[in-house]
Amino acid sequence: MRDGPRALSPLAGRTQQAGAPIACEPEGSAGARAKGIPVVEDAAQAIGATAQGRPAGSMGAIGCFSFFPSKNLGALGDAGLVVTQDAARAAKLKAMRAHGAVVKYHHDFVGGNFRLDAMQAAVLNVKAKHLDEWTRQRRANAAHYHAAFAERGCVKRGDVVLPPNDARHSYNQFVICAKQRDALKAHLQEDEIQTEIYYPVPFHLQKCFADLGYHRGDLPVAEQAASESLAIPVAPGTTAAQLDFVVESIDAFYR
Ligand SMILES: Cc1ncc(COP(=O)(O)O)c(C=O)c1O
Repeated sequence: MRDGPRALSPLAGRTQQAGAPIACEPEGSAGARAKGIPVVEDAAQAIGATAQGRPAGSMGAIGCFSFFPSKNLGALGDAGLVVTQDAARAAKLKAMRAHGAVVKYHHDFVGGNFRLDAMQAAVLNVKAKHLDEWTRQRRANAAHYHAAFAERGCVKRGDVVLPPNDARHSYNQFVICAKQRDALKAHLQEDEIQTEIYYPVPFHLQKCFADLGYHRGDLPVAEQAASESLAIPVAPGTTAAQLDFVVESIDAFYR
């Protein structure tokens, strides 16, 4: 805050990630509010999740959702949505979307070309009707994993740590923390179980941020998460037998 940030986005990173919402005061924390800094809520992975009875995306001054194809509500390509309860911010965002034009061809400020493609909107309109049911299925799959893993040695010994069993979570991914993660991933691939690593390199070790001067060891929690996390199948339509097969394959790896 010393150098005067124009907005805070405390919910990015490991917080709302994977679809687990965190509660935040409306308009952000008291500290940010006192300094007049708006909080931008990154709910890109959390559509359908709630915290303290509030939907993800409704807790900051501005909420952002991604409709990238891998998201719970995915378009066929890039798409997204910004929400706010503030009429002035809504008007500004709307103008930003079309190069700062409030009146066509009259540009009040420099914005960008952020219009939602009509084809993506049409796809999203159809898929949006199914979102609640898909979220319900994701939660049911996650609950199934929790029940199936409960008595397994891999969990009891701590080789595998499960994400929270939370009915408010939207489970964009079901991310376990696994010892020998890369070998486990290869083992699952042999059983034709597709997994994904979100994300193998934490921000502070990305080449694009090298000028910030961070090194390995500076953010040990982020580094541990990057080296241990593995997303296992949780998509709607996955059958109970398939989920059990995943659990068995993971447990077998550690036996
Ligand atoms: C937490 C989070 N924030 C932001 C983004 C960016 O969304 P988009 O690719 O739609 O710009 C993503 C997408 O992967 C995300 O997962």
